[in-house]
Amino acid sequence: MSEDNKIGLLDSGVGGLSVLSELYKIMPNGNYVFFGDTKNVPYGTKTPEEIFNCTKKILEFFISKNIKTAVFACNTTSAVAYDRLKEHFKNEIKIYPLIQSVAKYSIDGLKDNDTIAVLATKATINSKKYEKEIKKYNPNINVVGIDCTGFVEIVENRLYNDQEALSLIKSKLDFAKENNAKRIVLGCTHYPYLTNIFKNILDVEYFNPAQNIAQIVKNDIKSNSTNGSLDFYVSKNPQEFILSAKTFFDVKECKLHEI
Ligand code: DGL
Repeated sequence: MSEDNKIGLLDSGVGGLSVLSELYKIMPNGNYVFFGDTKNVPYGTKTPEEIFNCTKKILEFFISKNIKTAVFACNTTSAVAYDRLKEHFKNEIKIYPLIQSVAKYSIDGLKDNDTIAVLATKATINSKKYEKEIKKYNPNINVVGIDCTGFVEIVENRLYNDQEALSLIKSKLDFAKENNAKRIVLGCTHYPYLTNIFKNILDVEYFNPAQNIAQIVKNDIKSNSTNGSLDFYVSKNPQEFILSAKTFFDVKECKLHEI
């Protein structure tokens, strides 16, 4: 991978690090630029137009840094803005969307009439993107979408011991249980930070799309021969980002870039 073959990963905040960490594990020599849009987090309660505009600015920033490959380490952006952005930037940057890339793997081993629950942001659930993509591979799987508004704030603000936060999480998992979900998709990249809490409440299979998207990107990007680099940018509060990231990724330095 030459210096100009950088990979830009984007998310509204620390969630995208759950994808970066998988990519970094299997491609430690890659040159990565991560952008967390902490000024605009959460994306999940914004309109598709607002999400499109935020993501467009991040892609313009990537393009200004000569980045040719972008990974949407964000389900919400993949759900509501990918199609337009792909068209808009078709000659400038290749984009890997999350949901569209992993839907097929999320139902591996499931049978007709099995139920899969998708925990995701309001915008992702409203888009029904997981359901549409999963049904392309098996129309007989039941897909139950659960709007988990509030989970992103729990992660961004590290509210892991907050009682209100824990009862919100429990209420969403209870709903998955009532629907006999055999598997739960972590349909927002912030949710892998909550996996231990989830597992303590409900003992089912959890599907984290991060590994699959990382593998897909690695398979496409053949050469991998530099020393590697990691650059982090956020649109607000770099120090907060470093603190919240810690559970998942040890970010040493993070720069502020307003969009
Ligand atoms: N982590 C992102 C996702 O996967 C965005 C969450 C948000 O900002 O609402 O959907």
